[in-house]
Amino acid sequence: MDVIILKDSDAVAAAGAARVLEVLGQKTNAVFGLATGRTPLAMYKQLIAGSRAAGLSFRDVTTFNLDEYLGLQPGDAQSYRAYMQRELFDHVDINPNNTFLPECGAGVDPLEIGPTYEALIRSRGGIDLQVLGIGSNGHIGFNEPTSSLSSRTRIKTLTRETVLANRKYFADAAVQPSTAITMGIATIMDARHIVLLATGSHKAQAVGQLVEGPVSAMWPASILQLHEKVTVLLDEEAASALSLRDYFAWVAEQKRALSDSLEDD
Ligand code: PGA
Repeated sequence: MDVIILKDSDAVAAAGAARVLEVLGQKTNAVFGLATGRTPLAMYKQLIAGSRAAGLSFRDVTTFNLDEYLGLQPGDAQSYRAYMQRELFDHVDINPNNTFLPECGAGVDPLEIGPTYEALIRSRGGIDLQVLGIGSNGHIGFNEPTSSLSSRTRIKTLTRETVLANRKYFADAAVQPSTAITMGIATIMDARHIVLLATGSHKAQAVGQLVEGPVSAMWPASILQLHEKVTVLLDEEAASALSLRDYFAWVAEQKRALSDSLEDD
């Protein structure tokens, strides 16, 4: 696990966007797993600007979002589909037919969505880079505490804590869903590279469990300790509960020294 502590949330956004652009620069038809929520908003802005500045195209890119609410009307402004359109898809040259969320269209059996989504991800060759946030309860996607660490895309009931955390986005609490369809933990773990972004002191405990805690379904993000290629991008506040904070700063120093010495040659 590569734990990188940056000075503020802007630096986290810039580093996240840089990871995405790096993959896109190497593979024009990359498959990205994408996240919603407050944390990646600044990253998407940087990604739009950065791809334009570098002349990188999303024309051949495919995206799979982590999750979508169950029960919102199609086109609802609070749906994660609407969020993705607003924050990214409307601003880049991506083919809308290659943007996927685990949505439940009219007449579709919600129980069918998970297996269909899994098959679709497989048919596109799997996810090259998965972007993740983390809930203050340690969830990734909507895999709430006690989710099976082997879970696949399926319906999940949100915790009251998660519903409350997201209440601010809904003008009418009565229409806020308490269920969603989310990629499972095993689905996320299949991605070839994972980059997790966390900012703010309200994420510090979850980040502590993710990086230093025992692997446990009580803190679903802790499963990432078993993934071969995870980058965790943190601001100072999100990193504040890490007991190995100084070690991670030391690692960053060593890496800088190593890359400087390689550049000198
Ligand atoms: P947030 O959500 O970015 O809005 O804090 C993260 C999450 O719940 O995964």
